[in-house]
Amino acid sequence: MKVTKAVIPAAGLGTRVLPATKSMPKEMLTIVDKPAIQYIVEEAVNSGITDILIITNRGKGVIEDHFDRSPELEERLLASGKQDVYDQVVSISKLANFYFVRQKETKGLGHAVNCARSFVGNEPFAVLYGDDVIIGEDPACGQLIRAYEKYGKAVVGIKSVPEEAISKYSSLKVEQLEGNMYSCTDMVEKPQRKEDVLSLFSILGRCVLTPDIFDLLDNTKPGAGGEIQLTDAMRTLAQTVGMTGVDFTGKRYDMGDKLGILQATVEIALNNPVLGDSFRSYLKELSKTL
Ligand code: UTP
Repeated sequence: MKVTKAVIPAAGLGTRVLPATKSMPKEMLTIVDKPAIQYIVEEAVNSGITDILIITNRGKGVIEDHFDRSPELEERLLASGKQDVYDQVVSISKLANFYFVRQKETKGLGHAVNCARSFVGNEPFAVLYGDDVIIGEDPACGQLIRAYEKYGKAVVGIKSVPEEAISKYSSLKVEQLEGNMYSCTDMVEKPQRKEDVLSLFSILGRCVLTPDIFDLLDNTKPGAGGEIQLTDAMRTLAQTVGMTGVDFTGKRYDMGDKLGILQATVEIALNNPVLGDSFRSYLKELSKTL
């Protein structure tokens, strides 16, 4: 079955990016000239996704506004002859069919994904974490969808992380299938002891799940950090039917982290067709003073 639906969990509290995220969702923080979540939506659309459910909560209404029409603004832009900006503004609402649901309590990523059950129905679906922006020629979500079509199993996007950082991530038991494809048969969230580390491969930002994940989530008790962890539900899937891991190509930026936001801003600005050249000259000058 073709994967056409995607879920973007964007209901976290963003405590690592305070005070910026006190009233502004981290998913709406700007990278050059677009909010982070627009890069994620564009990746999904470029991967063949047509329907997107964004999981929000109180105070995240600006996300809905961003993907809606904006009649007063559009009228003003047209009246002042700013056709280019008008086209850009209108095109955002036409990227996909957008749906929104609120996660009423912030009980973790697994709990957020479980809010998507009725949207998903009985189809495979992609999950794009709302604070992970991935930039690359070949959209990461599409790479995972192709792996789903090839191997017929749920897929996780994986990357190797430094040994000293693995306790902050998940750790996966994997075996190489071919190239950047792995079979995954076990996983653990935030391993605290050395003997719990299965490998340095961790799930980063993207997965393609099958609808059987919802019954597993219903039965998942709070895990690391007292939250209902998506990894704990996926673990059962990995141990029983198995999953596929894709060491995806593309550069990932962690928008849930202050340094990650700065890296995204600098690197994406350098590749911007309009601003790139002048920003590069500015950085070169600035670097002489560092
Ligand atoms: P994170 O754990 O990185 O987000 O979740 P957080 O809770 O906002 O992070 P802190 O407070 O800085 O540690 C990864 C993704 O899952 C979403 C977040 O919005 C983020 O996109 N999420 C997390 C939810 O939608 N609901 C939750 O209950 C938790």
